[in-house]
Amino acid sequence: MIVSVIAAMAENGVIGVDGELPWRLPDDMKFFQRTTMGHHVITGRKNYESIPDRFRPLAGRNNVVVTRDHAYAAPGATVVHALEEALHLARNAGETEAFIIGGGQIYAEAFRAGVVDRIYLTVVHAEVDGDVYFPDFQEDAWAHTWNEIHPSDERHAYSFTFHRYERISGSNPLSRAAS
Ligand SMILES: NC(=O)c1ccc[n+]([C@@H]2O[C@H](COP(=O)([O-])OP(=O)(O)OC[C@H]3O[C@@H](n4cnc5c(N)ncnc54)[C@H](OP(=O)(O)O)[C@@H]3O)[C@@H](O)[C@H]2O)c1
Repeated sequence: MIVSVIAAMAENGVIGVDGELPWRLPDDMKFFQRTTMGHHVITGRKNYESIPDRFRPLAGRNNVVVTRDHAYAAPGATVVHALEEALHLARNAGETEAFIIGGGQIYAEAFRAGVVDRIYLTVVHAEVDGDVYFPDFQEDAWAHTWNEIHPSDERHAYSFTFHRYERISGSNPLSRAAS
């Protein structure tokens, strides 16, 4: 099973503000829907609660919410109490690619644990105010395999670039960072 992170980040690293996304970029949202459709999506409890009621659980995907709260309930989603438990569940279900969809704490935990194989990162060409950041993922430990630019237009206040990175085979970005 491939473990992927999918995120959108401003040039200054911001991914969230006041519990929400700092922008509205419909074509990035479509990319997110298209890429994650049919798969397990693993989310921190705060990110899950930031999704408007009418859109959660995210349709057509197995939603897995990570929380330390053993009393937490999320109708239509599976609740687990550790990232490893979420990955285990997806693997046991025969998943081919599980998506870690944020937010900042869960991304950081995934990179710390060294479990990420692939990163889909949309870089939003703006510097925005925020309170949640994408972790430093040691870009040189990854192969940059794809990018595509999306210009700003009447529906998108900012231009942005889709990027894809694959973990360099056999390299653990954590051990490389430490060496
Ligand atoms: N731009 C993007 O691509 C993107 C994507 C996703 C989210 N976001 C933004 O990111 C922000 C939310 O991120 P966040 O960092 O504040 O929160 P988060 O990562 O979504 O959720 C944090 C919560 O996850 C649970 N958790 C974290 N580590 C855990 C562990 N080791 N074991 C068990 N549970 C654990 C805890 O839940 P409990 O407190 O319930 O125990 C914790 O409070 C929002 O602004 C959202 O809009 C942006």
